[in-house]
Amino acid sequence: MRVEVTINRERYASDVEPRLLLVHLIRDVLRLTGTHIGCDTTHCGACTVLLDGRPVKSCTVFAVQAHGRELMTVEGLEQDGNLHPVQEGFMQEHGLQCGYCTPGMLMTSYAFLRKAKDPTEDEIRLAISGNLCRCTGYVNIVKAIQHAAARLRQGGT
Ligand code: FES
Ligand code: FES
Repeated sequence: MRVEVTINRERYASDVEPRLLLVHLIRDVLRLTGTHIGCDTTHCGACTVLLDGRPVKSCTVFAVQAHGRELMTVEGLEQDGNLHPVQEGFMQEHGLQCGYCTPGMLMTSYAFLRKAKDPTEDEIRLAISGNLCRCTGYVNIVKAIQHAAARLRQGGT
């Protein structure tokens, strides 16, 4: 089946099997390997991308379901060589440990901070509750998101 999608403002088209998962279209067919696969069972959130602006676990969506729609992956966060505040937050506050969960954490955080301008720690923890960090270093991840929220309130983009 033909799938045409826009990813990070670029158009892609591909012929795929109907059963192909979106994460495999993104990683294996289109070679955007920033999105990770951690479980394949909707559990870990490493594969989170934005579909029409909403976070989805791309191992739980068929590629054909994204036809005609807009995706954003972790590669789309940086703009003109500038890190997005959420990326900067993870760097500054050591939110990256092994880095496996990081792409999913970044995309979930990005979507969350578009709605929540001054979130509490509890709100942040709830927002990332679908994303598991096997390094279990949630303290720095929460700090990273707080850092990003502060930067965004100061007008960061
Ligand atoms: S790989 Fe999709 S939720 Fe784990
Ligand atoms: S940083 Fe290692 S899984 Fe989260």
